[in-house]
Amino acid sequence: MDKKRIEEMIDLAIGQMEFSYVPYSHFRVGAALLGKNGKLYTGCNIENAAYTPTNCAERTAFFKAVSEGVREFDAICVVGGKEGILTEYAAPCGVCRQVMMEFCDPDTFQIIMAKSRQEYEIYTLKDILPRGFGPANLA
Ligand code: THU
Repeated sequence: MDKKRIEEMIDLAIGQMEFSYVPYSHFRVGAALLGKNGKLYTGCNIENAAYTPTNCAERTAFFKAVSEGVREFDAICVVGGKEGILTEYAAPCGVCRQVMMEFCDPDTFQIIMAKSRQEYEIYTLKDILPRGFGPANLA
């Protein structure tokens, strides 16, 4: 992926943590999702007093895009940390990986886990969800 594009996605994801609604965990997560249309869709995590309705940053980004008719994606950048301090890489949870599996090619979709503009790691969906179950299994 183009370095400039990666940096743009990291900046956007970091900026999203400002909007995280995290009164329970105080763990802020931001995401920036790149559609094959070249557009970026942002997301933050949104918690709930009943806990289970909590929506992760990655799914917020996916659902925003899908709700606008976009279903094809190239990459997502994810950042996160307690109080928004990025000491570790924030890996997408299992549910978010499954949502990626629904809309993305596991061999090519890129997950950029970042701590800063300079520090990031890139994985494919297949790397983080080997032998995933997806639409192809029902075809
Ligand atoms: N969280 C995300 O937003 N994305 C992930 O992939 C992992 C977890 C959020 C959910 C919850 O608001 C907080 O992080 C702590 O689990």
